[in-house]
Amino acid sequence: MLHSSPSADGRNLAFLTRDLSKVYGEGPAAVHALRGVDLEIPEGELVVLLGPSGSGKSTLLNILGGIDRATSGQAFFLKEELTAMNDRQLTAYRRRHVGFVFQFYNLMPSLTAHENVDLVAEIAPSPMDAIDALDMVGLKNRATHFPSELSGGEQQRVAIARAIAKNPTVLFCDEPTGALDSQTGVSVLKALQDVNTRLGTTTLIITHAAATAAMADRVIHFADGQIREVIVNDHKASPEDISW
Ligand SMILES: Nc1ncnc2c1ncn2[C@@H]1O[C@H](COP(=O)(O)OP(=O)(O)OP(=O)(O)O)[C@@H](O)[C@H]1O
Ligand SMILES: [Mg+2]
Repeated sequence: MLHSSPSADGRNLAFLTRDLSKVYGEGPAAVHALRGVDLEIPEGELVVLLGPSGSGKSTLLNILGGIDRATSGQAFFLKEELTAMNDRQLTAYRRRHVGFVFQFYNLMPSLTAHENVDLVAEIAPSPMDAIDALDMVGLKNRATHFPSELSGGEQQRVAIARAIAKNPTVLFCDEPTGALDSQTGVSVLKALQDVNTRLGTTTLIITHAAATAAMADRVIHFADGQIREVIVNDHKASPEDISW
């Protein structure tokens, strides 16, 4: 039995995977999305995951986030084995610990920013105040606006506020700037970095904007369902200095 253990510098690991594999479909149509991933992510880090389209990034994020299941291998969150959990346990894990931010913000159009954030905070065990969450992403003054009255970058920041209002232990972001121009994307990255430094939320960001790697603690290069390279940044750039 494997246990999540302290990493080299003594911090606990938020995630540990061993030989994690995912196969979609069967026989000649089988797609090997993950091919034996060994990953270690220390608690509190901001991690950027880069790699070509189809290389398995979203598959990995969805398994770590408890919305998909591995075919073989192990994945741990702290000391809990995600790969041994049943559906009910995975749902509890997601509800208690996980915040998601996707490329398309998925806000409810008929609800204000405040109400959109409240909606998710309501079902969480120890939520943050919705206005405080909006304040963290710089949108306290837009609380009464509807999504149609907000720019793309502002809508994505509301989606981030919604994800952090439940006080998640980990925040998973799948191409959070994918629909935004560089300048607007930077305001979203700034919000993610603030959350990471102020709340200590372990944050995993998938992106095609390779320049984002400069603001990460750790950069994971993915290709063909495997980790190709892991780079630990000694000096992190500020999001304001990033463009793509
Ligand atoms: N539900 C599914 N059923 C079958 N194949 C799938 C499914 N989800 C993903 N795949 C396949 O698994 C592989 C990895 O997909 P994944 O979505 O993880 O890639 P990705 O790195 O996130 O790509 P992108 O950058 O385009 O989002 C791809 O070949 C994809 O077609
Ligand atoms: Mg993807």
